[in-house]
Amino acid sequence: MQDFSSQLSNLITQFQQDLEKVSTSDNVEALRVQYLGRKSPFQEVMRSLKDVSVDQRKEFGQAANKAKQDIEAAIEARETDLVNKRFERLGEEEKIDISLPGEKSSVGHLHMVTSAIRDIRRIFEHIGFTQVRHPEIDWEWYPFEVLRIGADHPARDNWETFFVDVPAHPKKGKMVLVPHVSNGQVREMERGELPIRSMNIAKTYRRQSDVSHVPMFHQFEGWIIDKGIRLTDLKGVMEYFVKEYFGEDREIRLRPHHFRFTEPSMELDISCGLCAGKGCSMCKEGWVELGGAGMMHPDVLRAGGVDPEIYSGLAFGWGVERTVSMKAGLNIADLRTMYKNDVRFLEQF
Ligand code: PHE
Repeated sequence: MQDFSSQLSNLITQFQQDLEKVSTSDNVEALRVQYLGRKSPFQEVMRSLKDVSVDQRKEFGQAANKAKQDIEAAIEARETDLVNKRFERLGEEEKIDISLPGEKSSVGHLHMVTSAIRDIRRIFEHIGFTQVRHPEIDWEWYPFEVLRIGADHPARDNWETFFVDVPAHPKKGKMVLVPHVSNGQVREMERGELPIRSMNIAKTYRRQSDVSHVPMFHQFEGWIIDKGIRLTDLKGVMEYFVKEYFGEDREIRLRPHHFRFTEPSMELDISCGLCAGKGCSMCKEGWVELGGAGMMHPDVLRAGGVDPEIYSGLAFGWGVERTVSMKAGLNIADLRTMYKNDVRFLEQF
């Protein structure tokens, strides 16, 4: 009995001495394990409780529990003490009031063009288009020759092209930064798998820089090549996209146009979001131009090794930047602001 009491008090004295010596929170934790853990002297003392006579066991049990609580309280106090000491060492202005609410760190978000690319891709994926990739630097063969725009054709002027200063390919000509993603049309057919229902979204480059043009921009272009593809399919796809991206209330209009690589060719207009198609100072007569589309020219199909007697194809494509800026409510005066990296502008979108 006496034994138990003295064991307990020895233990406490020893513990207090050890606690005095610790200098870090880690050491305090080690001490907790050492004194109260499963293999600790405290547990040993507790085990010896069974040798105490039954009538005294309660009294000693209580004493042991109290000792345990005291040890725990002392450990906690010491820990707080150590933390406070750490802060005392900090200079006046380094001190922090940990009871203050936290400061939110600012989290960025995707660039408006990146999220537009994702939105556009998702919309087309829903109707079975697969995203593919074709070169952004390519032989002029793909964005021009095979699309019936020969080197001397005046239509080339529409694609103010950057040339890359490398030796020309004997058949495929000079290397260019692609001025439109239509280079993917024949490249896609060259993969040799039909039918095709795919799209490419990539960077495109033109020698133009003004309020409505940036020299590097993005285009997406979609293609369907299969048996029996008709203009009505194109119209359906266009209508679906416009309603998904711009909203149910927007209408489409296909206006006759001319591209060398589609026949017939058209331009897609959508009803103006500001005046709902009534006509206003922004749109003049209720429509705004979105981009080009058409049925693939038989020569283009042939250039890709596809027999135009059996297959027909549709194509459509235009600029991502233009598409974002036309989204309801976004009236971006100068497209180039998108690439000035001014967060005051970018964080709004
Ligand atoms: N590539 C054309 C352009 O940049 C647009 C277009 C794409 C036209 C597909 C017809 C079919 O202007």
